[in-house]
Amino acid sequence: MISKRIKEMIPSVTLAQSEKIAQLKKQGINVIGFNIGEPDFNTPDNIIKKAEEAYSLGYTKYTPASGMIELREEICGKFKNDYNLDYTVRDVIVSSGAKQSLTNALMAIVDPGDEVIVPTPCWISYVEMIKLTGGIPVLVEMDERTGYDLDVGKIKDRITHKTKAILINSPNNPTGAVYKREDLERLGNLAVENNFYIISDEIYEKLVYDGEANCCTASISPEIKEKTITINGVSKSYAMTGWRIGYAVGPTHVIRAMSDYQGHTTTSPNSPAQYASIEALSNCEKFVEEMRKEFDKRRKFIAERLNKIDGINCVMPKGAFYVMVGINKFYGKSYNDFTINNPMDMCDYLLNESRIAVVDGAAFFADDSIRISYSNSMENIREGMDRMEEGLKKLK
Ligand SMILES: Cc1ncc(COP(=O)(O)O)c(C=O)c1O
Repeated sequence: MISKRIKEMIPSVTLAQSEKIAQLKKQGINVIGFNIGEPDFNTPDNIIKKAEEAYSLGYTKYTPASGMIELREEICGKFKNDYNLDYTVRDVIVSSGAKQSLTNALMAIVDPGDEVIVPTPCWISYVEMIKLTGGIPVLVEMDERTGYDLDVGKIKDRITHKTKAILINSPNNPTGAVYKREDLERLGNLAVENNFYIISDEIYEKLVYDGEANCCTASISPEIKEKTITINGVSKSYAMTGWRIGYAVGPTHVIRAMSDYQGHTTTSPNSPAQYASIEALSNCEKFVEEMRKEFDKRRKFIAERLNKIDGINCVMPKGAFYVMVGINKFYGKSYNDFTINNPMDMCDYLLNESRIAVVDGAAFFADDSIRISYSNSMENIREGMDRMEEGLKKLK
C-alpha cells in the first residue's frame, strides 16, 4: 500500500505532456520546446575545468553534511558583495539543488496543521512540499492586471495564528514578476509583527531586466533578515541544472535544523559539483551578463510577437525566462472537430497542430493561461511564434 501522503500528491501536470512530446519526437516530428525550465546555455568551460580538477585532487568523498566550508564561505562573500548582508558559514547550508534547500526549510519550521501562505501563480512543487510536511498551503491569487505584483493587502487578510511562513518567489516562475522593494518591505514587517518566516526563493535573481535588480528580502532590515530564509542555487544563474547544487542562508538555528534533517536524509551534496560551484560564484560574471542580455532580447521579441496574435494577451515579464499567456478568448473555438475548452486543450492543440510544446497554467495554479519559456534559440522562437500564429488563426 502506498502511503497516504504520497497518494495525496497532485501528479505532475507536465509528465503526461512530456510523454506526448517524446512520442512525437520519436516519430521524427520537429517539436519546438517552449516548455523548458532550464537555461539552454552550456555550463561555462571554467566551471567544467574546476570539476575535472576536483576529481583529480580527490574531492570525491563526503563533505560536511551542510556543505564544503570553502563553498559556504564563498556564499557568505556573495551575500556581502551583492546585498551587503553578513552571514557566517553557520548560517549557510548547501544542498542537492534549491529544491532540497526548500524541502529542508519547510521540514525545519513547519509542524502538521501549520499554514504556509503561497502567492499564486506559483511553482507547483511548493504546494506538494508543504503538504509533505503536514502543513496547509494557503494559496493567495495575485492579479494579472498588476503584472502579478505582490499584493500584500490580500496576503495580510489571510494571516492567522496558524501562519508559520510565506513562501515567495521573485523573479517568479511562471509569471516573470519581480517583486518591488516596498512590497517586500511591507511583507517583511508583517512577518516580524506576526512572527512568521519568509522563505524567499531567489533562484532567478540574476535574470532581471530593464535596468532593475533583484531585491533580496533579507537585506531590507536586520529584523526582516532574522525572519527570512533565502533560497538560491547555481542551476539557473550558471546553467548548471544537472549539477544539483542549491543553498540556503538564514537564522543560525533554522539552518542548524535544516542541516540535521539533511544529515539524516541525503548527507552532503555532490563533492566535485560543490568544488566547481565555488568557481561559478566567484568567476562567472561575464557569462551571467551575456546570458541575461540574450534572454532579454528573446523576452522582448516573444512578448511583441505574442501580443500581435489575435486573441492573445500577455504581461511583459520582468525577470526569469517565462511568459504567462492568457488564452480564454479561444474557448469554444474549434478546428477539425477539436474544440478548445481549457488550457490543457490549448496545449494539446498547439502540440498536435503547431508542433510547439507549452505548459498548462494548471501546473502553476493559474487559470485560463499557458506558460511559454523563451529558453530557446532566437531562430526557434521565431519559427515557433510563426507556427503558433498560424495554428491559432485556424481556430474558428
Ligand atoms: C522557482 C524555482 N525554484 C527552485 C527551482 C529548483 O532549482 P534546483 O534545480 O536548484 O533544484 C526551480 C526550477 O525549476 C524553480 O523554478
